[in-house]
Amino acid sequence: MNKTLLARDQEVVWHPFTPLKNAPQPLVVKSGKGIYLTLEDGREIIDAISSWWVNIHGHANEYIAQAIAKQALQLEHVIFGGFTHEPAIKLAENVLSVLPPGQNKVFYSDNGSTAVEVGLKMAMQYWYNRGITKKKVIAIRGAYHGDTFGAMSVGERGGFTAAFSPYLFEVNFIDFPTSANQDEVYQQFEAIVESEEVGAFIFEPLLQGSGGMRVYDHVFLDKLIKKAKEKNVVCIADEVMTGFGRTGKWFASDYLENKPDIFCLSKGLTGGTMALGATSCSSEIVRAFESEDVMKTFFHGHSFTANPIACACANASFELLSKKSCWENIQRIQDSQLRFKEQMTGHPNIRDIRVCGTVCAIELDFKGQTSYFNKSRNHIYNYFLEKNILLRPLGNVIYVMPPYIIEERELEEIHNAIGEFLDTI
Ligand SMILES: Cc1ncc(COP(=O)(O)O)c(C=O)c1O
Repeated sequence: MNKTLLARDQEVVWHPFTPLKNAPQPLVVKSGKGIYLTLEDGREIIDAISSWWVNIHGHANEYIAQAIAKQALQLEHVIFGGFTHEPAIKLAENVLSVLPPGQNKVFYSDNGSTAVEVGLKMAMQYWYNRGITKKKVIAIRGAYHGDTFGAMSVGERGGFTAAFSPYLFEVNFIDFPTSANQDEVYQQFEAIVESEEVGAFIFEPLLQGSGGMRVYDHVFLDKLIKKAKEKNVVCIADEVMTGFGRTGKWFASDYLENKPDIFCLSKGLTGGTMALGATSCSSEIVRAFESEDVMKTFFHGHSFTANPIACACANASFELLSKKSCWENIQRIQDSQLRFKEQMTGHPNIRDIRVCGTVCAIELDFKGQTSYFNKSRNHIYNYFLEKNILLRPLGNVIYVMPPYIIEERELEEIHNAIGEFLDTI
């Protein structure tokens, strides 16, 4: 008898962030269109989280698909050392045209973690090439920057990193800033940067993603960056999640007066269709690498660096995102999320509800402390799947992060389902 896809999957596939025992079985997806995923059994599910926060224009977007097909028939891949091509050049021009002024060059990699890894390595080698010892790195508690060793080092140390802790480099963490502890956090930051040794400060601007969709004050972040700049600390904005319209502007750093030196980008870069990472940096950083000394080269790259199909895909996504109608949608989603927040504020089962651009996070007052490992997670996840809505809570934090093409009635359907759920617990 032919085995089902699910049975074959369970025999040979290892899924990310998924225990190998007692985990719910994965759902087999046959196709996607717009905000909907169609399962093998014909069920249609609303993708309310843009499939790991990447899919900004909806699934199987025809414009993007055509750009991919055209590029695949023209040039599918070429070694990017010693060769270049139009899709990569055009994408760097596109990205630099919307990043805050002062960004000068784009370095490509494969995903969010590698975009961060490149950002950290650029900052470290910037000091190395200049012959200056500035080894300390500052990060914010609760951060998630990815799963490579550098990215893990600057992320929250806990369940995700425990097995690797002996191998992670030392990082100075400051507390996550809230309205209650800003003075204290500023003092922590000041005390660290006052030492001569600090080379880099990395942060998720405005919104910490995996750490629980936690929003913090951009004015406070501005103050930290200002202080960092006074002390010549390279500021690295991890905009892997916040980039490309998520927070209501092209980049979360657009809300800041003091601009970061390095930007790490991925996820929405290709409209969530193909794997691609990009790290941009200022001319000040570039200058430290412009040397006759070959040992000052940035010795980093990947087999698929600047893959032409991924770059063409990103250029198509960029064109869609540049349309006025797309920004109208972003604004509409933001307004709708704010209305929902207003409506739900004060609900007895909500500990906190917050909106940052197109993202709304609802922290439930449910089954103990707020944490990724909160026991309510599977219950919440299954509840919404049964209602044909994909919401993937971070422990007891439900968040809605839809593709920008979602219609108002569809967003209302998600909001209503959350409202009903809150009334059942
Ligand atoms: C802020 C941030 N940085 C980096 C990453 C890592 O990206 P990737 O999963 O593509 O490696 C993520 C992923 O969720 C993220 O949210």
